[in-house]
Amino acid sequence: MSKKILKAGVFDSGVGGLSVVKSLIEQKLFQQIIYYGDTARVPYGTKDKNTVIRYALEALEFFKNFDIDILITACNTVSAYAIEELKEQAPFEVVGVIEPGVIAVENRVKDKNSNILITGTKATVKSGKYKKLLSEKGYKNLQQKATGLFVPMVEEDIFSGSVSDAIMRYYFKDIKKPDVLIMGCTHFPLIENEYRKFFKDTVLIHSGEAIVEYLKDRYEFEDNIDTDIKYFATENPSHLKEVAKKWL
Ligand code: DGL
Repeated sequence: MSKKILKAGVFDSGVGGLSVVKSLIEQKLFQQIIYYGDTARVPYGTKDKNTVIRYALEALEFFKNFDIDILITACNTVSAYAIEELKEQAPFEVVGVIEPGVIAVENRVKDKNSNILITGTKATVKSGKYKKLLSEKGYKNLQQKATGLFVPMVEEDIFSGSVSDAIMRYYFKDIKKPDVLIMGCTHFPLIENEYRKFFKDTVLIHSGEAIVEYLKDRYEFEDNIDTDIKYFATENPSHLKEVAKKWL
C-alpha cells in the first residue's frame, strides 16, 4: 500500500465520466475530485490514436495545476489509446478503466469459456485492449462491438424509448447472447436498464464499479469522507454542472 489518497482528478472526453464519479462519491473515498471534461472536442471515440494522445497530454497539463494524488482516466477511449503516455509523463499516480474492467471480469466470471461481449467506442474496439488483456487471462470466447451511437444518444438526454430500442436492435440483432457484457464507455452505464432489457441475465461490467474495487485493493483512503467536486469543461461548463446535478 502506498500513501493515502485524498484528491483525485477525473478525466473524460465529456460529461459521460460522471458515471464514474457517481461510483466514486457513493464510496466516499475522496476529499476532493477535480473533474475535467473535454466537452469542446467530444467524442474521442471516433478520433485516431495520435489525436487522443495529444488531447490526453493537454488534459494532463491542466491537472498539473492541482495538487492531486491520482488521476483517474474515466474515458475508456483514453484508457485504450493514451494510458501509457499519461503514466510516463504524470507527476502523480494514473489509473485507467480498462485494467480494472478486466479484473472485475476475473473476479466475477470463473468459467474461461464464458461468452464475453465488449462494447465501446470505435477507438476502444479498434485498440483491441480489452480483448488482449482478457485473452492473456485465459478467456477464449470474446466478441467486440463498437456501439458509438449510444454516446450522442445519452448526450441528447435519451435514456430509453423508441430511439434506444432501435439502436439496440441495430447493433445487437446478430449478436449471440453473452454471459458477460462490458459497458466499455463512460456513457453506457447511463443506459444500463436498456442493456438489461436486451440481455436479461447477462453479467454487466461497469467501469465505475470496477475502478472502485481496483482502487480499494491498491490504495489507502480516509474513511467515509464527503467529496467536494470541482467541475471544469473546455466548453459550456454550465451544461456539465447541470448534468452533474441531474445524474449525481
Ligand atoms: N468517454 C468516451 C469513452 O469512455 C465516450 C465518448 C467519446 O467518444 O468521447 O470511451
